Amino acid sequence: MLFYLDEFPEQRHHRKESELLFPKLRARTPLSRELLDQLDHDHAQGERRIRELEHALLGYEMMGEPRRAEFERQLERYVEFYRMHMALEEQQILPLAERVLTPQDWADLDDAFTANRDPLTGHEPEAPYRALFTRIVNLVPAPIGLGGRPAGASAHGVNAASTS
Ligand SMILES: [Fe+2]
Repeated sequence: MLFYLDEFPEQRHHRKESELLFPKLRARTPLSRELLDQLDHDHAQGERRIRELEHALLGYEMMGEPRRAEFERQLERYVEFYRMHMALEEQQILPLAERVLTPQDWADLDDAFTANRDPLTGHEPEAPYRALFTRIVNLVPAPIGLGGRPAGASAHGVNAASTS
């Protein structure tokens, strides 16, 4: 899954937001400049963040239990960062884009983002990625994937160990 995050959201999706969507917004409106700068900064940090997380996972795999807590801490930090980043884009940038971008802008963006062929946005995976996506979908718990409930989770999706 980390490999997917690196190959698709980091290298394809975020890059196109910074190189195509954000410049179009800056060209159409003076609004939200600081937010766009912040999101660009997030994108620029993305590769370093994913490398640190991959290293923490490798540390856990190679060194075992003593490295587990550090991996979990970094994973939680990454997920929190990612959720906040997505929330800003979805709640502030996309509504702004709907107000100010032209039909030609949207056509350009549709072409660029459709070319990502990201299977988690509904595209048939490209042949080299097919096995990876099958594996992810089978591991991820329902309703997002086809996998079983994670250990410790109740029927309501709440982790029994962290209900404080
Ligand atoms: Fe983004």
